[in-house]
Amino acid sequence: MTRKIENPLATPQTIAFAGDWHENGRWAAKAISHAVNLGADVIVHLGDFGYSFSRRFLADVSAAALFQGLPILFVDGNHENFDRLCRFPIGPFGLREVADNVWHLPRGFRWEWDGVRFLALGGAHSVDRPFRVPRVSWWKEEAITDGQANEAIAGGPADVLVAHDCPAGVPIPGIDNRATPPPFPPLEIMRSEEHRQVLRRVVDGVRPSWVWHGHYHVAYDMVADLGYGEVRATGLNCDESHLGQNIAVVTLAGLRTGMPL
Ligand SMILES: [Fe+2]
Repeated sequence: MTRKIENPLATPQTIAFAGDWHENGRWAAKAISHAVNLGADVIVHLGDFGYSFSRRFLADVSAAALFQGLPILFVDGNHENFDRLCRFPIGPFGLREVADNVWHLPRGFRWEWDGVRFLALGGAHSVDRPFRVPRVSWWKEEAITDGQANEAIAGGPADVLVAHDCPAGVPIPGIDNRATPPPFPPLEIMRSEEHRQVLRRVVDGVRPSWVWHGHYHVAYDMVADLGYGEVRATGLNCDESHLGQNIAVVTLAGLRTGMPL
């Protein structure tokens, strides 16, 4: 039995957030059934989802989502093939349906579940950019533009930010306190910090109380102070790590009130 979801934005009771899957269909299928076992009725994926959006990957993810009868909503990461992704038209819900039960949340997309306001804003800077080939393994669309940031801010407050990058000011364990310099060119590290500043500008504008992100392949959960009140920041690990680090499940009620750390 499979179940095709007609309304990807129907209000769920329990949400699974998922870290980078990197076009790994085998892992995605495991992660989807893990999320369902934990009670999820929707998966919100935090980017670096489909890379090239190959037929094989989309078929694997879609088959698992159809089998479990739940929608998968994803923001874009920095390693998506934006030429392929943007070829999927934006449909009636304002989302790109890339396969049955699988939808892309475009940058700046907003929605509400039972009064909880969500803002989707994917994208990040690739620190290995010099080793990548434009429009083959790197796309300039990976970065949030100033225009996209301005539009996101103009949309007003949101409760939950669904992002790929992490805003500046949130100290990611093992990344922002590392003892040795990261193994990437300093200029690229600087650009990635600038990208985090762009996202921080958005956060300062929309003042979410919860930020979810991927990208750093680190699972953590903390309360940060970004100057306007407490912000719960949660990062997730990637495919081939541990299911418990790649998937985090919260109820919609818990998302509203903030669950205990
Ligand atoms: Fe990634």
